[in-house]
Amino acid sequence: MVGNICLFLRPNMENYKFVGEKILSWYQIHKRILPWRDIANPYKIWISEIILQQTRVVQGLEYYERFIERFPDVHTLAAADEQEVLKYWQGLGYYSRARNLFAAARHIETHFGGKFPEDYAALLNLKGVGEYTAAAIASFAFNLPYPVVDGNVFRFLSRLFAVREPIDSSKGKKFFTDLAGRLMDRRQAGLFNQAIMEFGALQCVPASPDCGGCIFTSQCLAKMQGKVSEFPVKSSKPETKTVFLYYFMVRSGDFIFLKKREGKGIWQNLYEFPSVESETPLSFEDLVEHSAFRAFFPANTRRRLLFKPLIKNYKHVLTHRTLYADCYEVSVAKASGLGKCKKIRRDEIEEYPVHRLMQRFWEMING
Ligand code: ADE
Repeated sequence: MVGNICLFLRPNMENYKFVGEKILSWYQIHKRILPWRDIANPYKIWISEIILQQTRVVQGLEYYERFIERFPDVHTLAAADEQEVLKYWQGLGYYSRARNLFAAARHIETHFGGKFPEDYAALLNLKGVGEYTAAAIASFAFNLPYPVVDGNVFRFLSRLFAVREPIDSSKGKKFFTDLAGRLMDRRQAGLFNQAIMEFGALQCVPASPDCGGCIFTSQCLAKMQGKVSEFPVKSSKPETKTVFLYYFMVRSGDFIFLKKREGKGIWQNLYEFPSVESETPLSFEDLVEHSAFRAFFPANTRRRLLFKPLIKNYKHVLTHRTLYADCYEVSVAKASGLGKCKKIRRDEIEEYPVHRLMQRFWEMING
C-alpha cells in the first residue's frame, strides 16, 4: 500500500508500468506542436515554463514568441534593463515572474559565464525557480529523472488512483511527486513528463472530461466510483481581500502624471496614475482628506482642482484580491511636480510598463 492507494497499485513496479506506456503512446498521437517542445534549449524551456505558470498556453504562446525574439538567450536578457523586460510582460500579470527572470539571467551571466546550469540543485537556486520549474528544465532539457507535477498531473493522478490527499498540502505535494516518480520511465523522463502533463491538459480536463473516450476508462478509480468531479481534493480556499482604489488622471495640457509603484506588492515597479488605496470605500470628502491624496496635491493647489469622474466602481479580480476602482480626471493649469510622479506626454505612456487594470483604464478613457 502506498499512502491511501491500495487497489491495483502494488509495490511491484511491473503492475503499473502500463500507465507510463499508455500515456507515452497517447502522447505521440495527441500532443500539441508547441515551440518549447522537442527542443533541449534550457533557456527557452525556462522562459516557457515561467510564462506558463499562471497563463494558458494559447495566451502564453504569443508572449513566448515575442519574448524570445527580443531576448533570444541568457546574455541578451541579462544585458537588458528591467523596465523593458516588464514591458514585454505587460498584460500577463504576476510581474514578479519577469523581475525574477531578469535577476536570474544576471545571476547566470555572472556566476555561470552565461551557460545555463545543468543540475537540479543549481536550477533550484535560481530566483523564481521552484521545485516544479527545476524539474521541468532538468527533465525537458537534460532528461534528468525529476517528476514534474503541475495542476494537470495532480488532477489526473488523483482521479486515476482516487487519492483524497489534498493537493495544496505539503504532504499531498510530496505524495503526488513520489507517485509520479514511480510511474516515470526514467530513461525517457522528459518525454514522460511532457506526456503526463499533456494528458491532464487535454484529456483529464477539470470539468466534464470525456471519460468514455479515455484510455484509462477501465482502470480509473474515480470513474469506477462515479466520483470524477470530486477530484482533486483541496484543503482550503484562500481568503480574498477587498481593496478600494481611487485613481487620478492628472492632466496639464498635453501632459499626464504616472507614478511607479513601490513596496513589495504584485505591481512593484509598474506605472499607474497616482492613487489612494483603502480597505473600506471612501466618500469624496474622505478621499480629499486622505494622506496619500494630500501628498500628491499640496495644500496650496487643492482648492483649485477640478475633478471629473471618468470610471466608477470598476471590478478587477486578482487571485487573492478583489479590487474596486474609480478614476477621476483632474485638470491642473500648471504643474511641474506632483508627489513622486513622472510628468510625461500622453503618447509616451506606451513606453512605460503598466499593470492590467491601468491598461484597461487607459483603453476606456481613450475609448
Ligand atoms: N504548462 C506548463 N508547462 C507546459 C508545457 N511544457 N507544455 C504545455 N503546457 C504547459
